[in-house]
Amino acid sequence: MSEKLFLLPGDGIGTEIMAEVVKLIDWLNAKGKTDFTYDSGLVGGCAYDVCGEAISEADMEKALAADAVIFGAVGGPKWDDVTYEQRPEAGLLRLRKDLQLFANLRPAICYPALADASALKRELVEGLDILIVRELTGGVYFGEPKEITDLGNGQKRAVDTQVYESYEIDRICRVAFDLARTRGKLVHSADKKNVMKSGVLWDEVAHQVAKDYTDVTFQHILADNCAMQLVRNPKQFDVIVTDNLFGDILSDAAAMLTGSLGMLPSASLGAPDAATGKRKALYEPVHGSAPDIAGKGVANPIAMVASFAMALRYSFNMVELADQVEAAIAGVLGDGLRSADIMQDGCRQVGTEEMGAAIIAKLDA
Ligand code: IPM
Ligand code: MG
Repeated sequence: MSEKLFLLPGDGIGTEIMAEVVKLIDWLNAKGKTDFTYDSGLVGGCAYDVCGEAISEADMEKALAADAVIFGAVGGPKWDDVTYEQRPEAGLLRLRKDLQLFANLRPAICYPALADASALKRELVEGLDILIVRELTGGVYFGEPKEITDLGNGQKRAVDTQVYESYEIDRICRVAFDLARTRGKLVHSADKKNVMKSGVLWDEVAHQVAKDYTDVTFQHILADNCAMQLVRNPKQFDVIVTDNLFGDILSDAAAMLTGSLGMLPSASLGAPDAATGKRKALYEPVHGSAPDIAGKGVANPIAMVASFAMALRYSFNMVELADQVEAAIAGVLGDGLRSADIMQDGCRQVGTEEMGAAIIAKLDA
């Protein structure tokens, strides 16, 4: 039976990097390795331009019906003045919420060929392999009230609400512990229990879950200290589980340790369906839409292609194929090919299409 993908390239470089994934899908299908069908839609500013919303109802329905959503990037200065409700990011947040993608996996892996591109010393990042497990459908991103009120005296009052229920903490911690079992068997749970009630509950539930995983080492860490430790000695970490906002921030820091934000993929997963075992999922690069280089054919497609590899792994259980795609990425980097964002002395600079083609050629070799 064929597997249904829904492609949402979005804005900026999103369309260019998605084009390379489409070529890869076509190649995999042609080789008989996969049997994907795909359809694409609009999200972000480009959707707003067409329908006045960051994603249309019709495209939301297609996303809900797909086996996996492959997402590019959204946003750009063109939409700076759009209302808060219609801003490009609202499309992504709606997808996360309506598809109930509570588990966001953000690996930060340092490719050997890029260890010198990191802002940190080579010995601190060489071999780095961290997985940030970020809660994605709760916390301050979605908590109510979330509003700005006019106090009528020339002052305004803004409020965002950080709220977590224990089941939300429990399920994300279980995802982290399950994944830790398949890797370094170490989980750090990051919160601010020294200031926040939600942090106190987070830590209580995390400790409770840890009791079911006696084979995994569990460590609490304050989120601010975690940020500091990430840049001091990142290799002490294996899996970090944390809430939506801290996960947003810590994952950007972790991403940069690896040399380039342009390299990192992510997966956002829902709970497995009780009957079918299938889970809703969305895969996207961690980087944004990079409007400054959009349309120039120079964007790095690696994070997008690596996000597709995560789809092979987590949505379709094509683990071997996912390994091969990841090895092909490491291979072209090893051959000295670089996009502009990761260019180094002695390497050959290539554009988006040439990088995409080189990855496919590696797979074909
Ligand atoms: C991310 C992004 C998003 C977030 C934005 C675009 C809404 O920063 O995926 O990390 O804050 O979650
Ligand atoms: Mg972010």
